[in-house]
Amino acid sequence: MKINTLIFDLDGVIVDTARYHYLAWKKLSDELNLSFNIRDNELLKGVSRRRSFEIILDLNGIKMDEDKIEEYCAKKNAYYLSYINELKEEEILPGVKDFLLEAKSLGYNVVLGSASKNSRFILEKLRIEECFDSVIDGTKVKNAKPDPEIFLKGCEEVNAIPEQCVVFEDSLSGIYAAHNGGMKAVGVANSEVKQYCDYYIDGFANADVRVLMDIIEDKQKRYA
Ligand code: BG6
Ligand code: MG
Repeated sequence: MKINTLIFDLDGVIVDTARYHYLAWKKLSDELNLSFNIRDNELLKGVSRRRSFEIILDLNGIKMDEDKIEEYCAKKNAYYLSYINELKEEEILPGVKDFLLEAKSLGYNVVLGSASKNSRFILEKLRIEECFDSVIDGTKVKNAKPDPEIFLKGCEEVNAIPEQCVVFEDSLSGIYAAHNGGMKAVGVANSEVKQYCDYYIDGFANADVRVLMDIIEDKQKRYA
């Protein structure tokens, strides 16, 4: 089936905010004397803020009251916002803006599908809100990736069906979410996902929309 919709994750695909998420969780973990390292951070990619904190608590074998969880998630977000407040337009990852504009000019629906509740703020900072036909972020869904809700909502918003959608993702939970929703997944800039996605790219600097879609559509035909 012909692909007509491209759905992009934000953190790690469009901009390298993963390190800011890491720094903010690290700061909070240090304050709470919780063990947390860069390797653990892989488990948090793509998952919601709340779920991320639960994972850190689980890794440390700790249970916490609901109100404390809320309080610390808010604290982490305040740290994170202090980092991304400084985000510059130039920090958009190489080739991304051209790829988005090219996709749009070729007539594809271009959708954002991110767990981040800060998505709008980040898109504004990077000045790329106009590139998207629809934005589905953490404020619009109940279920975190690997649940496919974010991507299915994005697909619905542009009147597409899952078989017509391709998701661009850097996280394992996001690749699973795409597959759980019946969509193809292109892994981006994270070699950890290479073996789980349908196709892998290091980034968008050398990526061409037409070439990529030909590859994906050809795979669909071969595995149909
Ligand atoms: C995802 C990130 O895009 O957004 C996760 O990969 C993060 O690491 C999640 O936890 C939620 O983001 P936010 O900005 O709402 O805390
Ligand atoms: Mg991501």
